Amino acid sequence: MELRKLVAGNWKMHGLASDIDEIRGIAAASRQYAGVDVALCLPAVLIERAVRAVPDFPIGAQDVHQAEFGAHTGSVSARMLHDAGASLTIVGHSERREAQRESDPEVRAKAEAALSCDLGVILCVGESEEVRAAGRAVQTVRAQLEASLPGQVDDAARLAIAYEPIWAIGTGKVPTTTEIGEMHAALRGCLRRAFGEAGARIRILYGGSVKPSNAAEIFSVGDVDGALVGGASLKAADFIPIVAAAAAPVT
Ligand code: PGA
Repeated sequence: MELRKLVAGNWKMHGLASDIDEIRGIAAASRQYAGVDVALCLPAVLIERAVRAVPDFPIGAQDVHQAEFGAHTGSVSARMLHDAGASLTIVGHSERREAQRESDPEVRAKAEAALSCDLGVILCVGESEEVRAAGRAVQTVRAQLEASLPGQVDDAARLAIAYEPIWAIGTGKVPTTTEIGEMHAALRGCLRRAFGEAGARIRILYGGSVKPSNAAEIFSVGDVDGALVGGASLKAADFIPIVAAAAAPVT
């Protein structure tokens, strides 16, 4: 099934008030590609200013706390993100799974909290280099997804999965199209088992060193329904060609 592609930028810990013009540029240029959903996931403190600058363009967060409110110093709830104007959030990025030791059940709780506050969710999964080398990538990532998925999804368009091999993030290394295709097909199987027919409509993004030079090839792989882009999302000059590649008919 051909799904409308989603190209989301993950700015990680980058972005100041002086970057709002870059965000304006990305939002304006994205409008030319009406067939693609485009979003930017920004540091929490920049969200509200970005939403004011580009009110019609989806701005997201990079993490959310699973609790509604309470004694969680330094954390931000789904309701707060929604209140700030965010329309989506990333959960379970490998940088957080590693540095903040986020577990699969925690990621699941974050996804559920976000969906219940009307936020879209990009749920990340991916294997380490050691796991890939040991030939256990597919079984590992499948298990990670099964344990991280929200229990229920009312609107398939609100959940996206991002397959991001840890060894491909920020390294310039990218799996072969065969490896990407094999993983995305396995993840599609998980989604169908979990959600039946709706599982066919949940987008599966690829992430990890996506660039203007490799985007078209990656988007030509079956069950690749978009991309989560880190470094190449910081500048319109890099990001917009990736959006354009997602808009082009798959050959
Ligand atoms: P990258 O990051 O595109 O810089 O490799 C992707 C990500 O971590 O989401």
